[in-house]
Amino acid sequence: MTQRAAIPRGDCLRTLISEDRIQARIREMGAQISRDYAGKQLHLICILKGASMFLADLLRYLELDVSIDFIALSSYKKGSTTTGEVQLTKDLDFPLDGRDVLIVEDILDTGLTLNYLYHLLLSRSPRSLKIVTLLDKPSRRVQPVSVDYVGFEIPDAFVVGYGLDYGEQYRQLPEVCVLETSEGVLK
Ligand code: IMP
Ligand code: MG
Repeated sequence: MTQRAAIPRGDCLRTLISEDRIQARIREMGAQISRDYAGKQLHLICILKGASMFLADLLRYLELDVSIDFIALSSYKKGSTTTGEVQLTKDLDFPLDGRDVLIVEDILDTGLTLNYLYHLLLSRSPRSLKIVTLLDKPSRRVQPVSVDYVGFEIPDAFVVGYGLDYGEQYRQLPEVCVLETSEGVLK
């Protein structure tokens, strides 16, 4: 039986994307990426912490020679409100020179994080640099980001689960849910 997170009083979770749909889509994305990089070595950069569950599942569907690294950035100080500024809080362990690099992100929202990271990593001379995101909220975009692989486009609502958190809670849910608190739906 799946162990569910304890839901704080006043919070309400509504399933937006079920576990089955997530897994089926990641399987498709894994097949597509495997075809696109056939015969190459792929270096995956996971953005901590939210994309860790997506990375773990995507890896299992890649029929390629892969290596992984992790980077951490912060733009959300707490809860659901962005501060607008991006900070590097944990750098990569390996250089990128000459590698085919794929950034793995959980959700593309305003675009501030991926815009910052894309240019930072481009300055480290990878052979190629692409982005895969599980979720995309196109209506929220502030800075343009060119994404190569998108799992699901979602409406403008704050979501949790499948790695995504609200104040560090709910990351362990196997599905993506819209979070409503006692103050209503968060944006
Ligand atoms: P952006 O810089 O505004 O594109 O936001 C990217 C980051 O904000 C993501 O990597 C998430 O960590 C966080 N984020 C954006 N939207 C949500 C959401 O709906 N739920 C949880 N985290 C979110
Ligand atoms: Mg994130």
